[in-house]
Amino acid sequence: MMRTVRVELGPRSYDVRIGPGLLATAGDALRPLLARPRVAVITDETVAARHLPELAAALAGSGIGAAALALPPGEATKGWAGLERAVEWLIAERIERRDLVLALGGGVIGDLAGFAAAILRRGVRFVQVPTTLLAQVDSSVGGKTGINSPRGKNLVGAFHQPALVLADTGLLDTLPRREFLAGYAEVAKYGLLGDAAFFAWLEGVGPALAAGDAAARVQAVARSVEMKAAIVARDETEEGERALLNLGHTFAHALEAATGYSGRLLHGEAVALGLVLAFDLSARLGFCPQEDPVRVRAHLAAMGLPVALEQVPGGLPGTEGLLALMAQDKKVIDGRLRFVLARGIGQAFVAADVPPDAVRAVLDQALAAPVPPG
Ligand code: NAD
Ligand code: GLY
Repeated sequence: MMRTVRVELGPRSYDVRIGPGLLATAGDALRPLLARPRVAVITDETVAARHLPELAAALAGSGIGAAALALPPGEATKGWAGLERAVEWLIAERIERRDLVLALGGGVIGDLAGFAAAILRRGVRFVQVPTTLLAQVDSSVGGKTGINSPRGKNLVGAFHQPALVLADTGLLDTLPRREFLAGYAEVAKYGLLGDAAFFAWLEGVGPALAAGDAAARVQAVARSVEMKAAIVARDETEEGERALLNLGHTFAHALEAATGYSGRLLHGEAVALGLVLAFDLSARLGFCPQEDPVRVRAHLAAMGLPVALEQVPGGLPGTEGLLALMAQDKKVIDGRLRFVLARGIGQAFVAADVPPDAVRAVLDQALAAPVPPG
């Protein structure tokens, strides 16, 4: 069941290993990367309680010592205070240029630990051991690291590629269902942006995947990582094609900002809504057939993800409020709204100058739409 995807970036190339049981053999995987038998693990308290003992035992079994810092779980950790704690701890642990930082956790820990590694002593290597579905298919691959500013998400950061990614799909067994589904929205995104056959496969296997089908999980993570790796290899620093990975994200970021980046709406749930709205907009502008947004909505709803704005607890601002939040999105260039749109399922493209009235009409309709039955 084991798969390996190579991210081809010249001297910074690395493997993403995917499959169950990788945590138990992490020591063997890390040994060739170590100048001395010691690693610094950054994790969060929830993940530490469930998975740190197994990692520590695996490292000890290979003669590797480990020190660990467990930070509070949640997005609030990915800020200046969390970064200071992480970097100062690494310095106190005497982590040197040739040492290795290991990020054990979801996207919050991966982004934070990766950025800490990027700036510690002008850059030390790091390994990602992603423990959420979102982190396994998205945030652990591609080298975007960073923290949030009080003024906005992900505004401070660096490109710093990991030296290795160990995506142990068995770790997803302890992930709460809501978090699993939020990550699934990103899996569906890969099919929608570039692989119609993958999306069709997901339509069939999605429920089994959510119920725990181990082989389907490995296949879904591996195909997602293959797609991300190929895009990152062609456009590491997002000069062009990498923007396709943001399908649904302009809407999603506005929805997350409107709900205060809170537990009211997880990032992946916002992405599910954003994917539906991006296809609505694509259909309204005549780029894709009307059936496509219907199909996107049907599959995400069948998986248990939100697909109607009515489903966001606590209410949302109106159309103009959401448009104002979109205008702050970093994908706005010279006041023009850039969107990732689609010419059909699996055919995303970047549209540079989307008429605000079309976006307004899509939001008006979405805000008025009832929750779908079922
Ligand atoms: P997260 O890291 O907050 O994890 C979600 C929750 O699940 C946390 O409470 C965590 O403690 C818990 N958890 C993690 N693994 C678990 C496990 N195996 N069992 C039980 N509980 C577990 O959230 P996330 O969704 O993984 O990541 C979101 C972050 O990722 C955001 O900050 C986002 O900006 C970032 N992100 C980065 C990139 C990138 O390219 N760098 C891409 C997408 C998202
Ligand atoms: N998650 C978007 C990117 O990595 O570019």
